[in-house]
Amino acid sequence: MIMDNNICLITGANSGIGKAAAIQLAQLGFYVLIGSRNKERGLSAVNDIKDKSKSDLVELIEIDMSLKASILTATKQINDRFKKLDVLIHNAADFDLSRKKPILTNEGIETIWATNHIGPIFLTIQLMDLIKKSEQGRIITVASQGLMLHPRLTIDLKDPEYKARNFSVSKAYYQSKLAQVMYTYWLAENLSDTLITVNCIRVTNVKIDIKRYPNLSGLMKFMYSIKSLFSISPDEMAKTYMYLATSPDLNRTTGKYFNEKNKIVNSSAYSKDEKNIEELMNLTMKYLE
Ligand SMILES: NC(=O)c1ccc[n+]([C@@H]2O[C@H](COP(=O)([O-])OP(=O)(O)OC[C@H]3O[C@@H](n4cnc5c(N)ncnc54)[C@H](OP(=O)(O)O)[C@@H]3O)[C@@H](O)[C@H]2O)c1
Repeated sequence: MIMDNNICLITGANSGIGKAAAIQLAQLGFYVLIGSRNKERGLSAVNDIKDKSKSDLVELIEIDMSLKASILTATKQINDRFKKLDVLIHNAADFDLSRKKPILTNEGIETIWATNHIGPIFLTIQLMDLIKKSEQGRIITVASQGLMLHPRLTIDLKDPEYKARNFSVSKAYYQSKLAQVMYTYWLAENLSDTLITVNCIRVTNVKIDIKRYPNLSGLMKFMYSIKSLFSISPDEMAKTYMYLATSPDLNRTTGKYFNEKNKIVNSSAYSKDEKNIEELMNLTMKYLE
C-alpha cells in the first residue's frame, strides 16, 4: 500500500505550518511522515492530522533535528522501511526568542545552527539514495521573509556558533536561514544532472501558537500579538509548501526561492555569490565529518 502513494517527510510537523502542510498532503493521498522531536506532541499531531485529513496514511518519525545521532536513528528506520522518498520538507526550526545565550546540543554544537542548518543537510545526505529512487524527488528548504530586513547579512565563517561574539536568537536564526538559502542553490547545482529539484520557501509572517513559547517575556508576547494582526494562517502558508511539493509546473524548476504567493523571488547578492556559497559549504561539511 505504501508503495502506491507518494511519500513525504516533513520535519517539525507537529505544529504550525508543518502540521498544516501535513494535513494538506495527506488529503491529497500522500503517505506523510511526521517528523517530531517529541513523541507525545508527535503522536497527538498524527491523530489530529489523520482526523482532519480523513487519511490513515500518516505516521510519526521521532527525529530531533539538532542531533546527528537522532537523525541517523530516524533515517535508518526510514531507509529500512520505505522504497523511495518523493518529497523532503526541511520545515523544523529553532527560534525561541526567550533564549539569552547560546545553548550547545549534547553533541556540542550551538542549537540554532545545529537545528536550522547542519541538521537539514545531514538529513538530506542520509536520505539521498531513497530520494533518488523517486520518479521526481523534491527537496524543499524553508527560510524567512525577515531576511529582507537584513540585506547585508553574511555568514560568520570564523564564528557561526557565536562562541566569541555577542549572541542574540534573532541574529543566530537569520544567519541559519541565510545559510539554508545558500545551501538550496548549492544542492540544486549539485543535483542538476538528476531529476531531483531543490527549492526554498521564503515564509512570510505566519501566526504562531504563542502557548508554545511560554518563556517569552510579556513584551515579546505583546509584540507577537501585534505581529499576528499582520500574519497569515499556517494553512495559507502551507499552500506554498503544497505548490512546491506537488505542482507539475515545477517538475524542472530547481534552485529557486519562492514567496507565499508562489512567485519566484530574489535573495541577497551575498547569498547568490558562488564563492560565498562554496565557503559556507566547505565550513558546513566540516560539521558532517
Ligand atoms: N511563523 C512565522 O512567522 C515564520 C516566519 C518565517 C519563517 N518561518 C519558518 O517556518 C517554519 C515553521 O515555523 P512555524 O511558524 O510553523 O513555527 P512552529 O509552530 O513553532 O513550528 C516549528 C516546528 O519546528 C519544530 N522543532 C524545533 N526544534 C526542533 C528540533 N530540534 N527537532 C525537530 N523539530 C524541531 C517544533 O517542534 P516542537 O513542538 O518540539 O518545538 C515545531 O514542530 C520554520 O522553519 C520557521 O523558521 C516561520
